Amino acid sequence: MRTVLLNCGPIVNFDSDMPVVGSDMSNDRWITTSGKAIIIENNVIVKIMNSSEAKDDFESHAHESTKLIDLNGDAVIPGLIDSHTHLVWGGDRSKEVRLKQLGYTYSEIAAKGGGINYTVRMTREMTEQQLFRLAKRRALTAMQNGTTHLETKSGYGLDTASELKLLRVASMLNQDDSVPRIDSTWLGAHSIPDGMSLEFYTHELITNQLPKIVESGLARSADVFCEPGWFGVEESRTILKESRNMGLDCRMHIDEFCDGGGGLLAAELGVESADHAHYTSIEARESMKRASVNTGFLPGTPYALGTDWPDIKSVIDMEAPWTIATDFNPNNQVLSLPFAASCIVQRCGIDPLAALAACTINASFITPNQSNLKHGTITEGAVANLNILHTENWESWCLTPGHSPFRATMFEGKLISHEL
Ligand code: NIG
Ligand code: FE
Repeated sequence: MRTVLLNCGPIVNFDSDMPVVGSDMSNDRWITTSGKAIIIENNVIVKIMNSSEAKDDFESHAHESTKLIDLNGDAVIPGLIDSHTHLVWGGDRSKEVRLKQLGYTYSEIAAKGGGINYTVRMTREMTEQQLFRLAKRRALTAMQNGTTHLETKSGYGLDTASELKLLRVASMLNQDDSVPRIDSTWLGAHSIPDGMSLEFYTHELITNQLPKIVESGLARSADVFCEPGWFGVEESRTILKESRNMGLDCRMHIDEFCDGGGGLLAAELGVESADHAHYTSIEARESMKRASVNTGFLPGTPYALGTDWPDIKSVIDMEAPWTIATDFNPNNQVLSLPFAASCIVQRCGIDPLAALAACTINASFITPNQSNLKHGTITEGAVANLNILHTENWESWCLTPGHSPFRATMFEGKLISHEL
């Protein structure tokens, strides 16, 4: 099957073999000027050429196996990659919004019986099928907002059987061709189960959960919520080192509420990505840069918590690699990367091209495509994941919070229309 996208407007290509950093993220060299055609065969972009030539080459033999689509000059950007989500959980924590408004902190709400452990209780009661239906609806929403690949974590089971249940749901989603491809992460170290000590649970994670997770083959990476009050630097180091020894890649949640030393540990271990990184010191950010650790900013979280925005500009200035992701979870139900980007573009002064690099090409290096094809880029040989905008302006990709900016999404060569 061949698809020819004729008369493309500007194409944001991000033709790079490494994460894009510093001012290069907002360099117009990543934009191919209007008038090109993109030729897709099966699930791969095979050629980008002048549209008039493509018309001559393919119009005459347009038939069932070659489909010509005229974009009339609308802009095209890569499929978006959401490199940090918590997609699989049950229950609802909407009631926490009023507690937040009364001044209770995230930790205080958790101590009152809400927070992660509340979601754990709700999630444990649900069957795999119920969780699958919930997660699939969320994944479809993500795709309507341009996401073609997403990382998701367990972490609402906190015992071996329940963690495996969540990872099986993620694996079922990955086999469903109507939703984005899924990259699975084990986050057993998300919270300490009610009635257990940190020391006991850390031991349990290493001796019981981790070996079973590795044996199942259901997770590519491990993650730890490294934050005072949850997992400290010592426990996080132990869990991540053991996970790496057993073959998993490592990621971290760090410095979401305060500078808890997670940034230095991320650098020491050279983890793939250290996310939130909201209160990370400049020294720790510099160490992370030296260790090539990605900083994963999650703008939905300060949006939902009502705090200030992270200091992205300092990371741009030091030319360190960074990404943005939604961090979809019960406390922050953002599934749209264009919305997450609008937060940093319209509130933090980040260039819309830099914001796009952060959830396409840069995210591809910490959330690789299972086919080993490149993604997060519109280049020959990459997987055919892309988004078509409603206008000729690529900037419009992050300027319509509340509704999708996309006319259509191409996912692995198949075009999905978002028009009514
Ligand atoms: O990344 N902070 C840790 N984990 C999630 C929140 C989980 C929850 O509140 O249910 C996060 O923000
Ligand atoms: Fe998270």
